[in-house]
Amino acid sequence: MSAFTTAIVPAAGLGTRFLPTTKAVPKELLPVVDTPGIELVATEAAEAGATKLVIVTSPGKDAVAQYFRPQPELEQTLAERGKTDLVAKVRRAPELLQVETAIQDKALGLGHAVGCAEGNLTGADEAVAVLLPDDLVLPTGVLTRMAQVRERFGGTVLCAFDIPREQISAYGVFDVRETGDDDVKQVVGMVEKPKAEDAPSTFAAAGRYLLDRAIFDALKRITPGAGGELQLTDAIALLINEGHPVHVVVHRGGRHDLGNPGGFLKAAVDFALEHPDYGPELAQWLRGRLSGS
Ligand code: G1P
Repeated sequence: MSAFTTAIVPAAGLGTRFLPTTKAVPKELLPVVDTPGIELVATEAAEAGATKLVIVTSPGKDAVAQYFRPQPELEQTLAERGKTDLVAKVRRAPELLQVETAIQDKALGLGHAVGCAEGNLTGADEAVAVLLPDDLVLPTGVLTRMAQVRERFGGTVLCAFDIPREQISAYGVFDVRETGDDDVKQVVGMVEKPKAEDAPSTFAAAGRYLLDRAIFDALKRITPGAGGELQLTDAIALLINEGHPVHVVVHRGGRHDLGNPGGFLKAAVDFALEHPDYGPELAQWLRGRLSGS
């Protein structure tokens, strides 16, 4: 049995770093080459065993959930024109998993956003995955490793990246103990966005969480933390203090931050360079552009 079947994607933010585009288009639908970031994240969740995706959204961002609904008329038009490859592309998102929405009507923080999805769970959800759509973790597969760690240790399992200390204050940071496996560490404390000199390690939360259901009770007991927001980090720290087992899988692969235009562009270029239609010409153009010719 899979360790989780429900994945939560918080997607209620205003996308201020992408204004003015996000006046009309939600950030999660911006295309990495031709595919919205949220489809990449939903695909990762489905590959790890999720059958249900709860998108936490805000009023006015219906387009995000709409993207996952079938479009039979479009499919028919494309089919009549013999565009079977495009039909397959259009069908991909609706066929991935069952999509539901939860509404977060106030921007009270990531912890609050995750808590908004509690009503979408069933009695069978002993643990849930949370994927932050700003974070692409590459190659995919870390959630499967996290599920194996939950099977071994129980409790909650997160994904960690080893981040340069000068960047650490942008993240939730783990205080860790060794387990004997270099890629799996026990978490004995967690702090959101500490100053570099106060950070307990350089292992940072990287937008993938496998949370025991106990998190929803902890989320009701936290008070506003860093930035005045209800932080998921603080609910995890509360569970740790109460003796709940928390571990991290250290991911040693790559990562893109889709949350700002600079990071988004790197992801788009990275994916485009791998694309058979666009990669070779883009590489050639980039070489010329960078050499000033
Ligand atoms: C959130 C989390 C933080 C985590 C980060 C990963 O912060 O609060 O703990 O390290 O995502 O991207 P945000 O980037 O939303 O400020």
